[in-house]
Amino acid sequence: MKNNDFTDVVQNRHSVRTFDPDVKISHEEFKQMFAETITAPSACDLQAWHFEVADTPETKAKVRKYMMKFNYPQVDTSSAIVQVFGYVDAYKSYKAMWTKTYEEGNITKEKLNEILGTFLPLYENGDYQLRATDAIVDSALASMQFMLVARNHGYDTNPIAGYDTTKVAETFGLDAKLYVPVMAIAIGKSKETPETHTKTVRYPVEQIYHFAE
Ligand SMILES: Cc1cc2nc3c(=O)[nH]c(=O)nc-3n(C[C@H](O)[C@H](O)[C@H](O)COP(=O)(O)O)c2cc1C
Repeated sequence: MKNNDFTDVVQNRHSVRTFDPDVKISHEEFKQMFAETITAPSACDLQAWHFEVADTPETKAKVRKYMMKFNYPQVDTSSAIVQVFGYVDAYKSYKAMWTKTYEEGNITKEKLNEILGTFLPLYENGDYQLRATDAIVDSALASMQFMLVARNHGYDTNPIAGYDTTKVAETFGLDAKLYVPVMAIAIGKSKETPETHTKTVRYPVEQIYHFAE
């Protein structure tokens, strides 16, 4: 059941921590949701994100091991935990991606040279911190988009960073130097009641912006 009401999708997104444990999301639908997620913007179009989906009792048990206790209900009841990583070495595929774009006739040779000459050196000559920071920002934007895409598909989510960051990459057999954990996202069908749901408030809007002088 698709929810195409943009205002409802965005403004009624709330963290859900109690899900219907009987709801499975098909791999086909996950693929569709990720395809809709990766139209998110990224620094220099580096697309430095990676998603690991834990949707079996075995993989969720592994995720549970690195979670803080207060996040167990989301792990236990969600359809899946999507662990989002920033991929630090994304710049290494950059040349091949843009060359393909050129070969397919989407950009001129001049544009290709301009892109590769301007942006690639930033990462090739940049340090680890720059690559990691950009990857985290890219992946945070993709995470937000995924949470809204999930609402469009009729699901709810809870972003989670309450876990042991040192254990996350190895849980999925990934190189911890290259895959930086950004957040986990519990996804599923909400089973919240007014009693279990935590209603959150925001600071008055006047406090959070200023027209620069
Ligand atoms: C980066 C990040 C980490 C979070 N970590 C957790 C977490 O570990 N456990 C949890 O229950 N909620 C977590 N949250 C959810 C926040 O508590 C929630 O977004 C906030 O209270 C606002 O409520 P709302 O999402 O319902 O609007 C996290 C949110 C973000 C963005």
